[in-house]
Amino acid sequence: MDICFRLVSLILILCILAPSPIYSKLLPTQEEAALVTNPAGFLNLARSPEVSDYMVRIRRRLHEYPELGFEEFETSKLIRAELDKMGIRYKYPLAVTGIVGYIGTGKPPFVALRADMDALAMEEDVEWEHKSKVPGKMHACGHDAHVAMLLGAAKMLQDRQDELQGTVVLVFQPAEEGGGGAKMMAEEGALENVTAIFGAHVTTRYPIGFVASRAGPILAASGFFEAVISGKGGHAAIPQDAVDPIVAASSVIVSLQHLVSRETDPLDSQVISVAKFEGGGAFNVIPNSVTIGGTFRAFSTENLYRLRQRIEEVITSQASVQRCNASVSFDDKPFYPVTENDRNLHKYFLNVAEEMLGATKVLEMKPSMGSEDFSFYSELIPGYFYFVGMKDEAVGISEMGHSPNYRVNEDSLSYGAALQASLATSIIPQLHPHEDDAMERAPHDEL
Ligand SMILES: *[C@@H]1O[C@H](CO)[C@@H](O)[C@H](O)[C@H]1NC(C)=O
Ligand SMILES: *[C@@H]1O[C@H](CO)[C@@H](O)[C@H](O)[C@H]1NC(C)=O
Repeated sequence: MDICFRLVSLILILCILAPSPIYSKLLPTQEEAALVTNPAGFLNLARSPEVSDYMVRIRRRLHEYPELGFEEFETSKLIRAELDKMGIRYKYPLAVTGIVGYIGTGKPPFVALRADMDALAMEEDVEWEHKSKVPGKMHACGHDAHVAMLLGAAKMLQDRQDELQGTVVLVFQPAEEGGGGAKMMAEEGALENVTAIFGAHVTTRYPIGFVASRAGPILAASGFFEAVISGKGGHAAIPQDAVDPIVAASSVIVSLQHLVSRETDPLDSQVISVAKFEGGGAFNVIPNSVTIGGTFRAFSTENLYRLRQRIEEVITSQASVQRCNASVSFDDKPFYPVTENDRNLHKYFLNVAEEMLGATKVLEMKPSMGSEDFSFYSELIPGYFYFVGMKDEAVGISEMGHSPNYRVNEDSLSYGAALQASLATSIIPQLHPHEDDAMERAPHDEL
């Protein structure tokens, strides 16, 4: 009994005396308390259980209940509830479900951070505790992580709002996946008074702990098309009595491939992909019509519009060669401009990211034919878009976005939140009026 009691006392004393790493993590150090211009301090804070567990919890909840573009009602409600808890004021709604929050003085300079909220119309194949509970919908492009990262950044910044010499604007937007939510957010005033905007995207293209971006054009301009090619249905054994839209659509698709290979500069990247082909349902029936659809990409607005015009001409002319009629539409989804990174913001990003992660962890990336509606913001004001690596094969994270097996590396949340918070706060002192000319905007393509 006595020995037992002494042993317990000894253990208790040892526990009290021993430094506890978890406890010390919860208390910000002197350095972290004044960290609005200290990138490494932000990363430590973003990795503390208080911030990182919070982001993981938010991200998992969003992952279980994915919502499609302009339908992010519950997602938006959750974000507003979190902003309310933190005491952050916001405007709502913009663009149906969008939210714009404000941290700091409410006065210039204003610097915006953006997160997209929508999921994809697809089925999740990953078996895990927080698998999507909504049939046919999945967060397979990391937008759940982007929202969690921005809320994590908000949490860190709101606790230090007295140190801010300006305003951090939190942009939670709907419908990045084809809907052009950013365009509508901008039209409804999300960028009011904003001098610069930053957007981050998680990716398995780069390892965890790395980030990547580039100056100038980073993602392509994009458009979508759909065409109905109409003939005359009939018996598949008696083709002379029918006008076959399957063969016509096939020639159309082959001819479309010649636009990039024969009509464009091989050194100027462009793409046309036909990704949809719907027609017929029986082995012995020629259908009345076929619907095809796809996407086209280019690195300038001029080239995008040239492709648009040629796509329409080729589809209608080539269909008529096979005696079919065709109607082509481009209106279903808005065209996205080229995503162009401001050159001064690129230099600034390199400084902040290298200070936080070390120079070897900051990569220069090649432009990609992917596209982003972040371009609607960076078309209006200097913007900067970058990728946060999360690949880690040791824990099975390597699937690309839009895959049913896509998984987010939750360790990436701290990197994203720390970078976003750091980028916004470190630039504010540099944007004060007398230093305005340091931030001259680069020329942009107008769409
Ligand atoms: C933008 O600036 C104007 C003029 O200072 C001010 O009236 C307005 O409230 C500001 N808008 C926001 C969203 O802070
Ligand atoms: C194509 O349109 C013309 C003019 O409207 C019509 O006369 C013709 O029957 C149509 N052909 C087919 C195959 O639908």
